[in-house]
Amino acid sequence: MPVCIDKAEFKARREHLLSLIGPNSVAIIPAASEVTRSRDTDYAFRQDSDFYYLTGFNEPDAVLVLSTHSETPSTLFCLNKDKLAEIWHGRRIGFEKAKKDYLFDQTCALSELTEQLLNLVNGQQILFYAQGTYPSFDDKVWSLLGTLRSNRTLKAPTTIKDISALIHEMRLFKSPAEVNIMRKACEISAQGHIRAMQFATPGATEYQLEAELHHHYAMHGARHPAYGTIVGGGDNANILHYTDNCDALNDGDLVLIDSGCELQGYAADITRTFPVNGQFSEPQAQLYNIVLAAQEAAFTEVKPGGSLAKANKLAMTVLTQGLIDLGILQGELHELLASQACKAFYMHGLGHWLGLDVHDVGDYKQDEKERSFEPGMVLTIEPGLYISLDAKAPEQYQGIGIRIEDNLLVTEQGYENLTQSVPKSISEIETLMSLKAN
Ligand code: GLY
Ligand code: MN
Ligand code: MN
Repeated sequence: MPVCIDKAEFKARREHLLSLIGPNSVAIIPAASEVTRSRDTDYAFRQDSDFYYLTGFNEPDAVLVLSTHSETPSTLFCLNKDKLAEIWHGRRIGFEKAKKDYLFDQTCALSELTEQLLNLVNGQQILFYAQGTYPSFDDKVWSLLGTLRSNRTLKAPTTIKDISALIHEMRLFKSPAEVNIMRKACEISAQGHIRAMQFATPGATEYQLEAELHHHYAMHGARHPAYGTIVGGGDNANILHYTDNCDALNDGDLVLIDSGCELQGYAADITRTFPVNGQFSEPQAQLYNIVLAAQEAAFTEVKPGGSLAKANKLAMTVLTQGLIDLGILQGELHELLASQACKAFYMHGLGHWLGLDVHDVGDYKQDEKERSFEPGMVLTIEPGLYISLDAKAPEQYQGIGIRIEDNLLVTEQGYENLTQSVPKSISEIETLMSLKAN
C-alpha cells in the first residue's frame, strides 16, 4: 500500500461529516494562517489538523464549507493565483486546479469569501463552527451572522454548534491508509532514536543529539519533528517538557530523549532513556527496570475492552511496589496506591491518543465512564519515574529521570507496537551503544 492518502479518502471523510451534521446545516472549517516568528519571517507553516483531515489541502487561509442544503455540498475557498505574491512567497494551487485535484464540488477564490459565505449560510438552520479556535476568523463569522440577522430578506441560522467533536471522533479511528503512514512515521523515528543512541558520548551536547534525530528524519522523508524534541541529560530529564537542550552530557548520567517525526501530518512520539556512556549504573538500572516493567504491565490492557485508566492502574501498582522495594516510598502497597503516593515521582498521565496531533483529539470518556479501546485507535504508553536532585529519596537515586514511551495501534487481537524497533531492555541498549556510530 503506498504511503499516502488518496484524495478520494478525503472526499469520503467530507461526505461522512455531511451525513453527521444532518439536514439544513452548514459547517465552516477554516485552515490555519501563517504565524509571524519575528520581523518579516514566519514559523514553518503547519496546516490546521481538522482542516487537513477533511481536505488534504496544505495552503494557509483557505476555508472549507460543507452544506447539506446546496447542490454543491463541499466548497473550498483558497488564495487567488497572484503572480507577484507567488514570486515572493511561493506557488499557489488556485481555485480552478484545486477543484479538480482535491475533488471539491465547488471552489472559489478567497476574495469572494464574504459574498459567497452569505449565500451558503443564508436560510440554514444550524451553523457548525468551532468558535474560539481562530479569533480573527470568529470576527468574520460574527459579522456574517450580524448581516444575516439585520437584513429582513435574509435568514440567519438559529443554532450554532461546535463542529469539533464530530471531526474528532472521526479522527480517533485511523483508516488503513493513516495507519500505514503512522507505521512509517514511527519507523523513521525509531531509527532516529537508534542513531542518537549510537552518537551519545560524554561531552556531546543535548542539541547535538537533537540534530542527529532531526537529520535522520529529514534524510528519510520527514522534514519536521512532530513537536519540540526533548533531550535531557541527568537532572534535566526531570523537567517533563524540557526543550532547552543546551547542556553538555555528563559521563555517568542518563539522557532522556522524547522525539518523533511528523510524516504527512502524522506524529510519532517515542521516548527512550539510556546511559550517556553506554553502561547503566546499579541505581539507574534499578529504576529503569521498574519503569520498563510498568510499561509492560500497561501493555497487557491495550486491547479491545481495555482502557487507559485500567492500564494506568497496573502501571501505578508496578511503580509503587518498585519504589517501596528501593526504599523511596515507605508504607503498605494498598495504602500508597490509595493515596497515589507514586505521583510524587510520576507526575503525568500514562498516555494519550496519537495522530495528526501528537496529543491527538478524541474523547477519553464515554457516557461519563473511561472509554474502552477499540481497533483503529492509536495511543502512547509512557510511564516514567522522575527523582530530581532535591527529591526526598536516597541520594543514589537523585538526579535520575526515566520515561519509556511507545506508540501502539489497537487491533482486534490486542495491539501492534509501532515503535518496537528501538531497543528497550538494558542489555539491548548496552549492546547497541557498544556499536558506536562514530
Ligand atoms: N512528547 C510529548 C508527550 O510525550 O506527550
Ligand atoms: Mn513523548
Ligand atoms: Mn507522548
